[in-house]
Amino acid sequence: MFQYNEKVMDHFANPRNVGEIPDADGIGEVGNPVCGDMMTFYIKVKDNKIDDVKFKTFGCGAAIAVSSMVSEMAKGMTLEQALQISNKDVADQLGGLPENKLHCSNLGADALHKAIENYMEQHKEI
Ligand code: FES
Repeated sequence: MFQYNEKVMDHFANPRNVGEIPDADGIGEVGNPVCGDMMTFYIKVKDNKIDDVKFKTFGCGAAIAVSSMVSEMAKGMTLEQALQISNKDVADQLGGLPENKLHCSNLGADALHKAIENYMEQHKEI
């Protein structure tokens, strides 16, 4: 049996920034084929900063808490800063995750990074 700490439980029970941005500037989707969890991040970009971020996660409690934490961390960051958020940073900010739930934290930053890359792809200088 494992236990989530209070911070994880809070983000799981009251996830921040849940939803979709219909006119998102970038979308990133990742999934874990083993557990079947899926995570999608939507970002709005203004002046090279993450102006808004929302996510939809179909997954375990840790995956939901991780998405919520990533969304809070990323808001207001420049794209470069947000690309630096590592999976470990997210787990650390949550005060740690149980060993067998660490793979869940890998999805969060990956989904955010994919959304940023998606935005950058569309805004490449020609
Ligand atoms: Fe797979 Fe949590 S069990 S993301």
